[in-house]
Amino acid sequence: MKKGFVDESVKGIENLEDAFLKLKKKKNAVLMAHFYQEDRIQDIADFVGDSLALAQFAAKTDADIIIVAGVHFMGESAKILAPERTVIVPDLNAGCSLADSCPPDAFAEFIKLYPDYKVVTYVNTSAEIKALSDIVVTSTNAKAIIDSFPADEKLIFGPDRNLGNYINSITGREMILWDGACHVHEKFSLEKILEIKEENSDAEILAHPECKKQLLMVADQIGSTAALLKYSATSESQKFIVATESGIIHQMKLKSPNKTFIPAPPNDSTCACNDCEFMRLNTMDKLYNALKYEWPTINVEESIRIKAVKPIERMLDISNKLNL
Ligand code: 13P
Ligand code: SF4
Repeated sequence: MKKGFVDESVKGIENLEDAFLKLKKKKNAVLMAHFYQEDRIQDIADFVGDSLALAQFAAKTDADIIIVAGVHFMGESAKILAPERTVIVPDLNAGCSLADSCPPDAFAEFIKLYPDYKVVTYVNTSAEIKALSDIVVTSTNAKAIIDSFPADEKLIFGPDRNLGNYINSITGREMILWDGACHVHEKFSLEKILEIKEENSDAEILAHPECKKQLLMVADQIGSTAALLKYSATSESQKFIVATESGIIHQMKLKSPNKTFIPAPPNDSTCACNDCEFMRLNTMDKLYNALKYEWPTINVEESIRIKAVKPIERMLDISNKLNL
């Protein structure tokens, strides 16, 4: 993959945010940012949200250019839903270990083993995987969408084994699971989290369903980034241990400035939080240059896009009906 721009010319710009916002207006562009982006990017975005909300936003915008401050699959979803728009992801190296854990050829072979099964895939996948799917889900709508299938419908779920296991446990289904995972969410240290909890017995543990089962078992609340954000604002608790990418804490603090948020630590280092290095490839400099040069763009081959858009639109239809 080609990298995004690292252009020395931004050094002469006094206020990069202002320059970016002016250029954005001039080019009729919008910036949508995932909750895992650095604070500075979240603060100037037209829209900040989880994977579902970003897809819904991309499907509705009438801007000429959509800048996606997120990872590659989020840019692909936007392009699939809005093919007539220019979609930019500032650094094409912003991939996703979960999406990478599901190569299309191997997944195609896998689903052939279960010809009478419906294929449900998490949005963290490539366009090719979506093209092989009956329906796409995000962590916000996964349970509701899976509940919408008749109880005896046989389902394959991929690629996240942790989310799949979690959905099986709360729905009583026995979906066949692809064996993929997110390296960021699998890296949280249960031991260190329990130590923090012992010192902060009043804190609630919030966990994303991409975390391992052992961690989910001790969590007080499990949910998508948007669901955890909402919970942190409405819960009576004043303190939270946050077991997902630490970027979400920015919005949590904005909504609840007097509450305390402790990032859950990973098991393999001394650092205090767990960042997704792909999400963090996006910087203000790259954002500015990507918009200036309208590059790098996301393109999806039309034959793949036509197949991939159907399962995404099915997901959006159900989500809209359920007000998700
Ligand atoms: P959300 O849909 O909950 O924002 O999750 C996206 C993601 O990449 C989690 O790692
Ligand atoms: Fe992918 Fe994990 Fe990063 Fe989310 S946190 S984008 S699942 S690598």
